[in-house]
Amino acid sequence: MSKLHHILSTKQFLNKELLDTIFQIADQFQKQDKDNKLKKTLAGKLLASVFYEPSTRTRFSFEAAMLKLGGEVLSTESAGHFSSAIKGESLEDSIRVIGGYSDIIVLRHSEEGSAERAARVSPVPIINAGDGPGEHPTQALLDFYTIKRELGSHHNLKLGLVGDLLYGRTVHSLIQLLPLINKVKVFLISPKELALPPVYKAILRNHDIPFLETADLEKNLSAIDVLYMTRIQKERFPKNFPYEKVSTAFVLNKKVLSKIRPQTIIMHPLPRNHEVHPEIDFDRRAAYFRQAQNGLYLRMALLKMILV
Ligand code: CP
Repeated sequence: MSKLHHILSTKQFLNKELLDTIFQIADQFQKQDKDNKLKKTLAGKLLASVFYEPSTRTRFSFEAAMLKLGGEVLSTESAGHFSSAIKGESLEDSIRVIGGYSDIIVLRHSEEGSAERAARVSPVPIINAGDGPGEHPTQALLDFYTIKRELGSHHNLKLGLVGDLLYGRTVHSLIQLLPLINKVKVFLISPKELALPPVYKAILRNHDIPFLETADLEKNLSAIDVLYMTRIQKERFPKNFPYEKVSTAFVLNKKVLSKIRPQTIIMHPLPRNHEVHPEIDFDRRAAYFRQAQNGLYLRMALLKMILV
C-alpha cells in the first residue's frame, strides 16, 4: 500500500483495504486513549493549522490529535485577517513559507480547489480541511468510520442525506465513498433550491446506486438506517437566495423522532442550527457527538500514516 501524502479529495480513499487500515488504527487510538496509554508517536513533528474559515471540530480535533501523540502545533484561525493574506499575500506564497516551518499543513479555505493549489507548491503534505463548497475528505472518512462503529458494517445501507445538498461539502465528500458499499440506497432529501449538484448524482448513477430525490422527510423516515442531517449553509448563498424559505424546511425534534426506527442513527457533521433540536440529544440514536469524537481518532490515524 502506498504511503499517504496529501489528502485533497475523498476520491483518494476508494480503496477498502486502505480504509480498513485507517479504521483499525483509529480504533487502536480510541482504546489507548481510554486506557491512558497513548504513545508520543509524533514527537518532533510540527503541524500548522491554517484556517481561512471558522472551525470548531476540524481544527481542534487535528490539533488535539497532534498534541496527544506528542507532536506540536502552529495555528492561525481567521487566516484571512491574522496572516499576511490581509496584505495581499497569495495562498501559494503563504503555503510555501509555512511549509518551510512545519511538517504538515491542515488547510481550510473558502475557495473550491484551494487545497489542490496549495499542494502544487507545498514542500510538506497538505490536508484539505474544507475548500469552500468543494470537499471535506477527512469529514467523509470520520463519517464512514462512525457508520461502521455504530452499525457494525456499511452493507445493505439506506442512507438519508438531508438539508443543504447543494453547498454541503460533507455530503459531496461522503457520496464519493458510497461505491465501496455492497447494496446502498440513498434518499436525497432537500428543498428543491438546495438539491444535490448533477456531478454528485452522476457518481451515484455511474455506480448503479439507486437514489430518490424528495423534499418530504417524514414520508421516508421509516425506511432509513442512517439519517445524515446537514446545516443550511447560509454563508455560501448568493444574494437574494430565499434563506428564510429553506432555513426551517427540516427540523428533527421529538415528534419527528418518534417516526424513526429504534436502530436508526442520526448523524450531523455539526455545527447545527434549527435542523436538529437539542431535545433529542440524549436519545441513544443521536450519534452526532460520538461522530465528532470519532474525528479525533480518525485524524490521529491519518497523521500517523502520513508522518511516521
Ligand atoms: N464538521 C466540521 O467541519 O465542523 P467545523 O466547521 O467546526 O470544523
